Amino acid sequence: MRKILAAGNWKMNKTATEAAAFIGELKESLKGAKNDCLICVPYTNLETAVKLTAGTNIMVGAENMDYHESGAYTGEVSADMLCDLGVKYVVIGHSERREYYNETDKTVNLKVLRALEKDITPVLCCGESLEQREAGITFEWVRMQIKLALAGVEDVTKVVIAYEPIWAIGTGKTATSEQAEEVCKAIRECVAELYGSDKAEKTTILYGGSVNAKNAEELFAMENIDGGLVGGASLKTADFTVIANA
Ligand code: PGA
Repeated sequence: MRKILAAGNWKMNKTATEAAAFIGELKESLKGAKNDCLICVPYTNLETAVKLTAGTNIMVGAENMDYHESGAYTGEVSADMLCDLGVKYVVIGHSERREYYNETDKTVNLKVLRALEKDITPVLCCGESLEQREAGITFEWVRMQIKLALAGVEDVTKVVIAYEPIWAIGTGKTATSEQAEEVCKAIRECVAELYGSDKAEKTTILYGGSVNAKNAEELFAMENIDGGLVGGASLKTADFTVIANA
């Protein structure tokens, strides 16, 4: 049985001062939560987040990293830098990074490989635009993204995959649980084709896109949805707590 993962993606929200206060609340509120809990936070909050969550049930992730080992890459952060802080997860290939920061399937793949090499779990994002959905190419598109991102990955069970339809992110327009399930199922089938069904059954596949306190339970009850990558609702203690128990 796969355990449900409630993963928050704070995006560009909360200063380190705000994060410290928020995590203080969250620690209390998430005590004994049913699901695994992860918060992915801005670089500037990582050190605070790791320190404040030590010994709790909250895991900490970054929202991005560079794929180079080290060197002359002004403004970038390496996997070693994350490891040194005790960061165990990193979001890779979020659609906002693909769209606004020119991330490509190639750089996403390189980042996934680097994260795995350094024992950081990549939370690999994929998902179609509204235009692609309306053109009927959702499945082909997502399968392509997954295959390209996983090129060279040996153990897929060390990757968390997040299906995030772009039209559902931050729009309040969640995919129905059926829509989310059918794509998560197709992703699991794609993983099974690449690695065998045993591995596919052990791989965590999340849904993301306007997950909230009201819809989380229904989404997480679907066979192939193993939790959520949550943006807006992860910034509110009460909402994220409901999601962590859904
Ligand atoms: P949202 O964001 O929950 O605010 O839609 C999800 C995400 O982008 O990971």
